[in-house]
Amino acid sequence: MIVQFEALTKIYESKLRIVAVDGIDLELKQGEIFGLLGPNGAGKTTTISIATTRTLPTSGTVRIDGIDVVQHPAHARRLIGVVPQFNTLDRSLTVYENVYFHCRYFGFSHGEAKARALELLEQFMLSERKSVYPTQLSGGLAQRVQIARAIAHRPKVLFLDEPSAGLDPQSRMAMWSAVQQLRKDGITVLLTTHYMEEADSLSDRVAVIDYGRVLALGSPEKLKQTFGAQTIFNLKLKSLEGLESLIATLQARPDVTSAEATADGLRVIAASSDGLLPELVQAAAGYGLRDLTITEPSLETVFIQLTGRDLRE
Ligand SMILES: Nc1ncnc2c1ncn2[C@@H]1O[C@H](COP(=O)(O)OP(=O)(O)OP(=O)(O)O)[C@@H](O)[C@H]1O
Ligand SMILES: [Mg+2]
Repeated sequence: MIVQFEALTKIYESKLRIVAVDGIDLELKQGEIFGLLGPNGAGKTTTISIATTRTLPTSGTVRIDGIDVVQHPAHARRLIGVVPQFNTLDRSLTVYENVYFHCRYFGFSHGEAKARALELLEQFMLSERKSVYPTQLSGGLAQRVQIARAIAHRPKVLFLDEPSAGLDPQSRMAMWSAVQQLRKDGITVLLTTHYMEEADSLSDRVAVIDYGRVLALGSPEKLKQTFGAQTIFNLKLKSLEGLESLIATLQARPDVTSAEATADGLRVIAASSDGLLPELVQAAAGYGLRDLTITEPSLETVFIQLTGRDLRE
C-alpha cells in the first residue's frame, strides 16, 4: 500500500471545537486514482494537509510508501507532489521557471532541472507558454502548470485538492486527461472533489466522506450498485386523464421503485432501465408524450442516499 491513513483525527480547538477529521482509515494502492468525494467542510483539505505535512494530526498516522509523515516530513515531501486548492504558482516567475526552480529545490542540477522542465511543458502542452507569467494564464492552463510542477521531482503520490474548481468544462476535460496520463508514469493520485461526475469518471475508487468520516468506499460502479442508485425517468404528457391506470401498471413491475404523477406528466424511478424504456414510451404515447428525460444512476443519488443531503448544499 502506497498511502496508509490510520485512525486519522484532526480537532481544531478554538472557540468552537471542530472535529474536521474523525478517524479516517484508508489505504491507496500503487498507481490508482483515488477520489475523496464530499461536500464543503467534509474534511477533504484537512486530510490532504496532514498527508502533505502542512498540518499536524491530533492523532493517528499517515504513511507514504511506509514513511510516517509526522516522524519524517522531509523524506515524505520527496515522495509526494501537491496541487493545493488555490493557485500557488510564483507570480514573479515564468511558467518554465516555476517548474525549473521546483526541480532545483529538490536537488536537481541545472542541466537536469532544465531538461525535466522542458520535458514536462511538452507533456502538458505548455511549451508555447514557457515564457509567460502565471497572471497571463487561464485557470485551466494555470492548473496544468501546477500539476506539471507538482510531479517534476518524480513523486510517487500526487495530491490534487479540488483540481477542477473554477474551471470551465473544456479545461476540466483537459485536466482530466492530464491526470489520466499520469497512470502511465505509475503515479498514484489522491484527488478531492465535490463534483460527482469528476469522482465518477476519473477515479478507480472513491471514498465518500462527510463530517470527517468515511461513509462508503469502493469503485464508482460498486458504490452505485451497493447503494442501489436508480434511474429516473421524467415524462411530460399532453393528457393526464386516466393516468392512474398507467401508474398502477408501472408500480406492479418489479424493476419499478416508484411511479407518480407530476404537474405535467409522470415520474418513474427504477432500479434498471433495461426493457422499461420501450414499454414506457409505448404506454405514454396514448397520453401524448411530449418530452422524456432520463437521469442515469450516479454517485450523486448514492451521496444523497448516504447523507440525506445534496453535494452542493
Ligand atoms: N485552520 C482551521 N481552524 C479551524 N477550523 C478549521 C480550520 N481548517 C478547517 N477547519 C474546519 O474543519 C472542517 C473541515 O474543513 P476542510 O477545509 O478540511 O473541508 P473541505 O472538505 O476541504 O471543504 P471544501 O469543500 O470547502 O474545501 C470545516 O468545518 C472547517 O471549517
Ligand atoms: Mg477543501
